[in-house]
Amino acid sequence: MSLSPGGSQPSEAAAEQTVRVDLGARSYDILVGPGLLERAGDEIARRHPDAALAVVTDRNVAETHLPTLEHALDAAGIRHSRILVEPGEATKAFGPLQAVLDGILSARLERNDLVVALGGGVVGDLAGFAAAIARRGMAFIQLPSSLLAQVDSSVGGKTGINSDHGKNLVGAFHQPSLVLADTEILSTLPLREFRAGYAEVVKYGLINDPRFFDWLCAHWREVFDGGQARVDAVAHCCRAKAAIVAADEYETGSRALLNLGHTFGHALEAATGYSDRLVHGEGVAIGMAMAFRFSERLGLCGGNAVGQVCGHLQDVGLPTSLAALSDCDVSADTLLTHIRQDKKVSRGALTFILATGIGAAFVSRDVDPHAVRSFLEDEQTQ
Ligand code: GLY
Repeated sequence: MSLSPGGSQPSEAAAEQTVRVDLGARSYDILVGPGLLERAGDEIARRHPDAALAVVTDRNVAETHLPTLEHALDAAGIRHSRILVEPGEATKAFGPLQAVLDGILSARLERNDLVVALGGGVVGDLAGFAAAIARRGMAFIQLPSSLLAQVDSSVGGKTGINSDHGKNLVGAFHQPSLVLADTEILSTLPLREFRAGYAEVVKYGLINDPRFFDWLCAHWREVFDGGQARVDAVAHCCRAKAAIVAADEYETGSRALLNLGHTFGHALEAATGYSDRLVHGEGVAIGMAMAFRFSERLGLCGGNAVGQVCGHLQDVGLPTSLAALSDCDVSADTLLTHIRQDKKVSRGALTFILATGIGAAFVSRDVDPHAVRSFLEDEQTQ
């Protein structure tokens, strides 16, 4: 593990890291470090000489970061247009998808031109899916502006939109050709959003990397502050994700580990109407705590794993139980209805990511729905 033991002060210039996602002809680099938005034009022009591009971004991100990006593109002599969408999960839908496709086609972009996603997970998933289907597949570049997008959704090629039937049910695997994760721009995020993204950081420790979990427990404040610790943590997560994606790009097996906490988490997001009441990372935090409690109840996970997981999530200010949603309908019936609707259901059996300890998660594809119901009933009073 390359994480520096002592962390560093945010004022020091942090060293950039490059992570390679090894997928044969579809391999690509993830650059992680400060100042990448300002250098985006040069990085893109070097890899895609003569390509024109459309930047897809939401109105909030556009206000804060689009001028910097457009300036960088102008300086590199890249022809560019912009496609603005509304912020929020409701944008991952057919209407906005059509608007993005119209924007790409009316900008007369050709197959070898580029779609650039500047934003968080919503923009990345939407723009990536538009790139996957416009002209039967265009190259695209991710410029993730949220912690969640930098450590998870911008890497690995999952793209798509939601349907009335559930989250992410319409989409495609379509790898980006480059990811530029500018860690400095994360300092403009509201604390709540950074914190929610941090749940996905913790996830990598819980899946298969207990040393990373320990490092996070010791250094999470420095990650929040910025500087080298943040670069190191983001790059470490991208490296972990790159390894998982390289081993199982289309999620036929081990990639499902990345869904730790997501089965419960998605059900909670659905139960709260995908609203600001519970943002994705908060759902994942509660979901991961529930996955560990459920594993303990099934006799799989002992020691003090549940206490350590919940303790760290609570230290950073993340929720870990349904008590955080006492004003919402998160009854066992409601949550089970949403869980059954999830992609992770196969012929009636429920798939969960369970764990035998911190850093020891595994995919369980035959979880008894009765055991889930009785667990969810007991969780009402946690
Ligand atoms: N976010 C989970 C995955 O990319 O597989």
